[in-house]
Amino acid sequence: MLGRLNHVAIATPDLQKAMATYRDILGAQVGEVVDLPEHGVSTVFIHLPNTHVELLHPLGENSPIAGFLARNPAGGIHHMCYEVTNIEEAVEILHNRGVRVLDAKPRIGAHGKLVVFLHPKDMGGVLIELEEA
Ligand code: CO
Repeated sequence: MLGRLNHVAIATPDLQKAMATYRDILGAQVGEVVDLPEHGVSTVFIHLPNTHVELLHPLGENSPIAGFLARNPAGGIHHMCYEVTNIEEAVEILHNRGVRVLDAKPRIGAHGKLVVFLHPKDMGGVLIELEEA
């Protein structure tokens, strides 16, 4: 079912500092800040040869990552995103295998593609995003 690792998302309390770390210390190709008000986050993509790292920072009230940053004030890995070719099929298979899917149905994610999130308690403590690629 699983395809490529699409991105690893890192929540950060200081977007500029995190960008500088990847750009100036690690020498990565760091993109621009993109605000996604409908998703409650500002994002920055870091382009690596084989995948992406996505920096996430809360935007506006009720950001979905506000609680995570309250528990992890220094920031940390928020989720990993794997690609699947057919997300409806993947969700059905996961339901049948007893995995809790957090979204009632696939929704348009931060990158304009269909996504669902899987319950971390069924995924070894890691929040997993599946994206139809
Ligand atoms: Co993501």
